[in-house]
Amino acid sequence: MKIRKLPEKLLHGGDYNPDQWLDCPEVLEEDIRLMKEAHVNCVSLGIFAWGKLEPEEGRYELDWLGGIIDRLYDNGISTILATPTGAMPHWLQENYEEVRQVLSNGIRKLPGGRHNFCPSSPVMRKKMQGIDRALSKKFGKHPGVIAWHLSNEYAGGAGDNGDGACYCPLCQANFRKWLKERYHTLDNLNHAWWNSFWSNDITDWEQIHAPSTIGESTLDGLKLDWRRFVSDQILDFCKEERDVVREFSDRPVVTNLMGAFYPLDYFKWAKELDIVSLDNYPFWHYMEDESLMASASSFAHTLMRSLKKQPYLLMESVPSAVQWGPKNTLKRPGMHALSSLQAIACGSDSVQYFQWRKGRGGSEKYHGAVVDHKNGGNTRVFRDVADLGERLEDIASRVLRTCNRPRAAIVFDWENRWAVDGTAAVTNPFDYTHRWQRYYRAFWDLGMDVDIINMDDPLEGYSLIVAPYNYMYRGDYADRVRKFTAGGGTYVTTCWSGEVDESSLCFTGKHPLSDVLGIRTEEIDVMPDYVHNRVICGDKAYDIQDLCALVHAEAAEVLGTYEKDFYAGYPAVTVNRYGEGKAYFIASANEEPFYRDFLKMVAEETGTGCTLKVSGELPKGVTVNERRGEEENDSLWFVQNFNAGETAVVFEDTYRDIETGEEVSGECVMKGYQCLILKKI
Ligand code: GLA
Ligand code: ZN
Repeated sequence: MKIRKLPEKLLHGGDYNPDQWLDCPEVLEEDIRLMKEAHVNCVSLGIFAWGKLEPEEGRYELDWLGGIIDRLYDNGISTILATPTGAMPHWLQENYEEVRQVLSNGIRKLPGGRHNFCPSSPVMRKKMQGIDRALSKKFGKHPGVIAWHLSNEYAGGAGDNGDGACYCPLCQANFRKWLKERYHTLDNLNHAWWNSFWSNDITDWEQIHAPSTIGESTLDGLKLDWRRFVSDQILDFCKEERDVVREFSDRPVVTNLMGAFYPLDYFKWAKELDIVSLDNYPFWHYMEDESLMASASSFAHTLMRSLKKQPYLLMESVPSAVQWGPKNTLKRPGMHALSSLQAIACGSDSVQYFQWRKGRGGSEKYHGAVVDHKNGGNTRVFRDVADLGERLEDIASRVLRTCNRPRAAIVFDWENRWAVDGTAAVTNPFDYTHRWQRYYRAFWDLGMDVDIINMDDPLEGYSLIVAPYNYMYRGDYADRVRKFTAGGGTYVTTCWSGEVDESSLCFTGKHPLSDVLGIRTEEIDVMPDYVHNRVICGDKAYDIQDLCALVHAEAAEVLGTYEKDFYAGYPAVTVNRYGEGKAYFIASANEEPFYRDFLKMVAEETGTGCTLKVSGELPKGVTVNERRGEEENDSLWFVQNFNAGETAVVFEDTYRDIETGEEVSGECVMKGYQCLILKKI
C-alpha cells in the first residue's frame, strides 16, 4: 500500500482531549471558535480515549469521535488520529492480570496509571488489535484524518525507575527467544557474555533471567542484550499497531518519540515509522546562561531530523510551563515564539502542544495549555500561540521547500550508550550523553548545523565526523572510518573509544583505529576534585574536567600536551594524516572553551562552519541553523537569540528578513529572544 505524505502545511495545534468535555457541548463549540482564532490547523485526537471508545470489553462507541473529526474537518482543522493504547481502560487491567507490567523485583504492578502495558501479553495484543482495527476501519480514509499517532510515548515512565522494561514471565520467555535468534548456541552466548568468569556458564536457556536488583545485576553482556531486547520488544508491539491501522488506511504513521530517551533505540525505531515526531519539554529560564538548555533542546530536535534526514514533527511542547518540574517557571515574553521557531530551524514542519485545553481535574490540570481554565482567548499564552500560528502561516510556503543538510556529523549511538553506561569503569556512571553534549554544545555555539548519526549510518557525504566516547565499535565501523578518512574525510574521536566490540568484549592487541589515529592508547586517569590540570596547545591553556587518557604518539603529530602530574608533556591532542584525510584524537575530557576553539579550527579546515556570513564568532547565546532549499536562493537561515537582552550580530553579507521584507546587513541589534528568518538577496 502506498503511504501518503502529509498535506503541505506547517502544522500548528496539539493534543486535543475532548473526551473530558463530552457533557459540555458549549465547550466543544468554543474549542472550534478558539482554534480558528489561534490559527490551529491540526490536532492529535483520542490519545487517551480508550475508556470512552470501548467502555465495556468488545462494545465500541466511536460515533462521538466521528462527530468531532467531522466538525474539525468542516472547520479546516485536520486530525492526527491516535490509537489509544497509551492508557488501558480499567476493565482490561482488572480482568486480565497479564497486561500489567512486572517490576524487576518480580512484583506485578497494580491497575492504574498509563504507559504500563506488557508488550508481550497476547491479551493486550488482541485487545489492541480490536480497538485499532475498529478505528482504522471507521476513520482510516476520512478526509480529515491526515496521519496516525500510534499509542503515546511508548515505554515512557514504565518499569523500574523508568527503565521501560517489563520483567514478567512472558517477557522473560521472549527474551530467551530473542537470545536464541541472536546467538543460536549457548556456546556462542557464553563466549559473548564471558561467562567462564564467576562460574556464569549457562547450560540451559531457561537459566537466563533478565537483570534484576535482586538477581544478576553486574553482567555486562546480559545487561546490554536486555536493553536491546527491551527496545526491540516494544518496537515489535508498535509495529503490530502500525500494521493493524494500515489494513484500512494509507495515512502516514507516527509515534511521539522523546529525544534521547534512554530505553529505546530510536535509530532502529525510525526505520519502521513514516515520519518521526518529538515531544520536547525544556526547562526554559532555569539557568542564567540559556545556551545550556537551548543547546540541549537543539540536540533533541536535531536528533529527530537526523533519524530519517527529513523534516519531522514537533508533536508536543508546552505553550507556557509544565506542572511536573521542580520549578515551573513561565516562558518569558518572546520565548514561546523563539523556542517554537527553534524546532522549525532544526527541521520540524510543525509546532504542536500538549494540550489544547486545561482539564478541570486529574494530574495534569495545571499543565500549561493553549486555553486556560479561565478567560477563554483573552490570555497572554493564548495570544502568544495565536501570534505564532499566524507567523507559521506566513512562512510556511518558503519553509516547506527546505531542510537542513549539513556536511558535518556527530556520532550518537544507543548501543554504545547502553554499553558504556552499563560497564563499571573510569567513572560510575560514565554518563555518555552528558559528556557527549559538551561536543554538541560547541556546534551550537558556533552556529554549525550537524547531523546526528549512529554507527550503522553511512559516513559518505560528510567532510567532518566527530565521534565522542565511541566506546563500542560495532560491525565494520572501524573499516568504514578507515575508508572515510583515507578518502579525504576528517575524523575526530576521543579517549574511551574503540574499547569493546558489539558484545562488550574488550579488543586486545591495539586500538582498532591505531593506524588511522597514529597513536597507542594506554591507561585513563580520573582526576580527583582537588586536582587541576590543563591542556597546553601552543600559547593557549585549557582546563581539564576530569578524564586524562595516557597515549603515545606514534605516527601522529602532537598538538597539545598535559601541563602537570606524572604525565606532564604526554600528548593530550593529536592529529594524524591518513590517506587523503586526517584523524584527530582528544585524550582528555575538558571544559567548554576547548571544544569551541578546537571545533572552530577543524570547521575552518573542512569548510563545515556556520554558513551564514557573520563577522568573527557568533555572540554567546546566539545560534544559527540553515534549512537548505533545492535552489540556492531558497535557503533560509534562522538566527536565534537566546539571550534575554539585546545582542548585536554583524552580518558580512546582505540578507532579507522574509517576514518584514527588510534588508539586513552590517550590525544588527537583535531583541532579547528574537528569531530572524533570513534569505540571501
Ligand atoms: C508527555 C505526554 C503527555 C503529557 C505531557 C506533559 O509528553 O505524552 O500526555 O503528559 O507529557 O508534559
Ligand atoms: Zn511482560
